[in-house]
Amino acid sequence: MSTPRALDSLPDGLAADAHRLLATLVRDGAALGWVEPPSRAEVAALLADVAAAVRAGDAALRVAFLDDRLVGLGYWTRYSRPTHRPHADLEKVAVDPAAQGRGVGRALVSALVEDARAAGIEVLTLDARGDNANALHLYRTLGFTEYGRLPDFVAVGDRRYDKVFCMLDLRRS
Ligand SMILES: CC(C)(COP(=O)(O)OP(=O)(O)OC[C@H]1O[C@@H](n2cnc3c(N)ncnc32)[C@H](O)[C@@H]1OP(=O)(O)O)[C@@H](O)C(=O)NCCC(=O)NCCS
Repeated sequence: MSTPRALDSLPDGLAADAHRLLATLVRDGAALGWVEPPSRAEVAALLADVAAAVRAGDAALRVAFLDDRLVGLGYWTRYSRPTHRPHADLEKVAVDPAAQGRGVGRALVSALVEDARAAGIEVLTLDARGDNANALHLYRTLGFTEYGRLPDFVAVGDRRYDKVFCMLDLRRS
């Protein structure tokens, strides 16, 4: 697959395609922070905010296509707290179920890490649900290390899952 594309604005149709991707994953139980599939308007607003942050130098957004079809996305945004400004948080790494296991997620996260390095980000953080073995495997093999865990913190209906915090210190790698 080709290198995921970096975006600083949203091409026509991208928000709708991203909504389809995210809503399908959440409907199937993916751990992306939503309990119910997000609305189209919510995804459009989220991506517009991220694209604006990219233009301000405070984020990176990458999208992956296979045969001209959106199959993956992910982004990081710089922390807004003044004392955390050198650092950023990676979020919403998502790959279409039909395209999983083919290197799309690895390509997305690798590109976003390089974007962070190029932007001078010092520490890239992320969090994942404790049962998300594929994601945690991917992050660990890209150099992220676990720095903490909130037991039984993520609430999905009556179920509870650990929230796992990971970091990649770009000053040391
Ligand atoms: C996590 C996710 C982004 C990985 O994307 P992907 O394109 O499937 O990942 P890749 O093909 O690049 O594979 C990355 C690693 O994960 C492993 N992996 C991915 N899918 C797997 C699967 N279905 N079964 C077993 N291992 C899997 C691969 O073995 C690979 O490791 P390896 O290179 O050492 O073999 C994707 O599964 C996804 O979108 N999940 C739902 C949303 C989500 O959980 N996002 C992360 C939130 S923290």
